[in-house]
Amino acid sequence: MKRRIGILTSGGDCPGLNAAIRGVARAAYELFDAEIVGIRNGYGGLIEGEYQEMSKKQFSGILTLGGTILGTSRTPFRNMRVIEDNGVDKVAAMKKTYKDLKLDCLVTLGGNGTHKTANLLSQEGLNVIGLPKTIDNDIYGTDFTFGFHTAVDIATDVIDRIHTTAASHGRCMVIEIMGNKAGWLTLYSGVAGGADVILLPEIPYDIEKVAETVERRAKKKKAFSILAVAEGAMTREEAKMKKKEREALRATQPCISARIAKELTELVGVEARSVVPGHIQRGGSPSAYDRVLSTQFGVHAAQLIKEGHFGVTVALKGNQIVHNDLKDIAGVPKPVPQDDTVVVTARNMGINMGD
Ligand code: F6P
Repeated sequence: MKRRIGILTSGGDCPGLNAAIRGVARAAYELFDAEIVGIRNGYGGLIEGEYQEMSKKQFSGILTLGGTILGTSRTPFRNMRVIEDNGVDKVAAMKKTYKDLKLDCLVTLGGNGTHKTANLLSQEGLNVIGLPKTIDNDIYGTDFTFGFHTAVDIATDVIDRIHTTAASHGRCMVIEIMGNKAGWLTLYSGVAGGADVILLPEIPYDIEKVAETVERRAKKKKAFSILAVAEGAMTREEAKMKKKEREALRATQPCISARIAKELTELVGVEARSVVPGHIQRGGSPSAYDRVLSTQFGVHAAQLIKEGHFGVTVALKGNQIVHNDLKDIAGVPKPVPQDDTVVVTARNMGINMGD
């Protein structure tokens, strides 16, 4: 059986993309007569017809490589149906590239936006399989996305390093962790790094409550405090605002960690600093966990291609690799639930969640 597979990576990159690409390719070459076409820079490349016929050897030596050998871009889903000023119909263009390349299927590696477009293309009649990647771990229907655990390791290392300098200087350190809508990365790295305060977008905070912990520690002669704050964390007042209103307000303010550091200095009189590790959390080689997960996801996708099973995305459920229908998961958020076991663990440890 011969199958021509198009493969693309879309949205923000993360460690494990190349391991997943390699997993798809290695298993596809193993399971059937595969031809693989690499689409450049995500859906942008599918629209523009930018691609590369791949050879087997191009999938060698990439297991440990960060980023994506295919390149990526953000092509917002909300604009997919919008006709460009130059008259380009993006959906029609993607379908044309798929047809011109004589593809039997398209494998899309990405996060929420990528899955929404994958679902759209599936509904337009293309054979699509998704693979869930993101350091945010916010894709519905999978316990974990690949890239998440590596980012947890990196963010934890940042917190560990901040811990020693915080203790030396007796400072309050506010570390801003990636995750605008979901706080999974902050929650896991905060617990792993022994943070005193963890603030998530899902649990609006009260700065007075946060200050209580910092002050109590200062009084107990533990002069330093560690705060792990998600970039999307918000105050109770902000949580009541409409999204647009909140975003407009935030655009006029410094980043959240700087804001909180300043407020704590004013409220408690501590010396505070903010730290923003930013895209470091998405860079470099995948952890061993993510190499295994990415490989499993990739191999499962190749098995689905062999079976001719499309319109799905691969997922982890417990210790099983499964797949969900794209239409059931695309656009469904996966915030941290209030009763998540790690949230409960954090609270039972006495970690201040800001509420
Ligand atoms: O979705 C992954 C992520 O790293 C988020 O945590 C973060 O909010 C966003 O991407 C940053 O996007 P960009 O790389 O476009 O600045």
